[in-house]
Amino acid sequence: MSLPGTEFSVDGMVAVVTGAAQGLGLAIAEQLAAAGAAVTLADLQLEKTQAAADTLCQAGSTAAAMRLDVTDSGQVDDVMAQVVATHGRLDILVNSAGLGQKVMPIVELSDDEWQRVLDVNITGTFNCCRAAARQMERQESGAIVNLASMNGHSPPALVASYNVSKAGVISLTRTLALELAAYGVRVNAVSPGPVYTEFNKKVMAQRCQSLNLTEDEMIERIRTAVPLGRWGEPTDIASTVAFLCSDAASWVTGEVWRVSGGLEGISVAPPKREE
Ligand SMILES: NC(=O)c1ccc[n+]([C@@H]2O[C@H](COP(=O)([O-])OP(=O)(O)OC[C@H]3O[C@@H](n4cnc5c(N)ncnc54)[C@H](O)[C@@H]3O)[C@@H](O)[C@H]2O)c1
Repeated sequence: MSLPGTEFSVDGMVAVVTGAAQGLGLAIAEQLAAAGAAVTLADLQLEKTQAAADTLCQAGSTAAAMRLDVTDSGQVDDVMAQVVATHGRLDILVNSAGLGQKVMPIVELSDDEWQRVLDVNITGTFNCCRAAARQMERQESGAIVNLASMNGHSPPALVASYNVSKAGVISLTRTLALELAAYGVRVNAVSPGPVYTEFNKKVMAQRCQSLNLTEDEMIERIRTAVPLGRWGEPTDIASTVAFLCSDAASWVTGEVWRVSGGLEGISVAPPKREE
């Protein structure tokens, strides 16, 4: 099986996708599995992840589910070791596990909220990259794709911790790409524009409140800001990630690709807060 186009193949490759219970991670796991990769779906939510893996297996793909908290480096190392013990190698890691922050100005941001987002989005991505990199370096092959964000390039107000975490993911991606280049291992990132997943629904609900807009008004406002005139679908992100994982991208490393319908970011300075 191969992706459209002769060389877009991940057939027979061994992949781990974090955050694969839902949203972008699930769409990425589905696309890699449909294209012939043996995919391990890893997420905090085991029941949902198991159901997704079962559905993929029923469709004839090779898939397994594992519970994983990416903030726990011991668990991350165990999951990677189990995948290598089962399949003999690791060809692809996609880091999609992530979360948003409560929408609030920096002066009101608590230690806990700041740390909660950094722990998952940057330390979790680091833990997974490090564990996979050790194996891929030994093999002298492999591809890693990290989910960054437009916010990492063009930071909007009121989500500082998230913005910093995604800027960190971009820096980590480019650093690791250099360190692994001599081993033939590629490391890239994708920065999705708005896709209406659970993650985005939560953030939108808070933005609506702070801007006094209805959810429908907010959805429309964002839609019209996207040059291509629509919100993204999870498959829009998944197909670029799958391409970066495939041999067709064998001369692509250290890149951070926006997949956003042409949107470059939305930055509005909020008014003074009420005393
Ligand atoms: N949806 C968007 O518009 C959008 C835009 C830009 C970037 N992103 C990024 O894409 C990635 C996926 O986002 P999504 O929209 O699919 O979100 P989502 O909330 O739908 O899915 C995220 C998944 O990550 C899992 N997760 C959270 N913490 C975890 C942990 N500690 N260990 C393991 N799994 C954990 C959740 O259980 C969930 O299944 C995130 O990194 C997000 O920042 C999303």
